[in-house]
Amino acid sequence: MAILPIITVPNPLLKEISTPVGKVDDELRKFMDDMLETMYHAPGIGLAAVQVSRTIRVLVMDLSEDSEKPEPHYYINPEITWVSKEIGIYNEGCLSVPEQYAEIERPLECKVSYLDYDGKAQNIHCTGMLATCIQHEMDHLEGVVFIDYLSNLKRKMIIKKIKKQTE
Ligand code: NI
Repeated sequence: MAILPIITVPNPLLKEISTPVGKVDDELRKFMDDMLETMYHAPGIGLAAVQVSRTIRVLVMDLSEDSEKPEPHYYINPEITWVSKEIGIYNEGCLSVPEQYAEIERPLECKVSYLDYDGKAQNIHCTGMLATCIQHEMDHLEGVVFIDYLSNLKRKMIIKKIKKQTE
């Protein structure tokens, strides 16, 4: 496995719409293993392929607590099939927006269909942290980062701070 470089805002690649995966094969599985290692190393709880400069519709996530054993999940070509009317607010962060956090409103629950690590079709009903995280990661596939929900002023301030950090 390998640790891949994570890109940060305002890298224009983060605005790209990712393309669907045609086939779940060993090359893709190797890439997803690398994504997972990159995410654990960061450390983070979710990562979209575009964040490591590959614009394909793939996410990896692990919401297990530090003390538990790892619970990696892989989502290929995920699609939201239902969202709840109830809205939740969560203080979100992102590996592509290092050390910056903001309260973001999203549907409290959602249902997602996707292909798993073996290319098998799956459906899940997401609640709590899983619902927030999967919606955040799926936004990346549409070229959306959580700071896009903030005011122009707030977003510009955050990007300025990150530019300074990464110079
Ligand atoms: Ni993110």
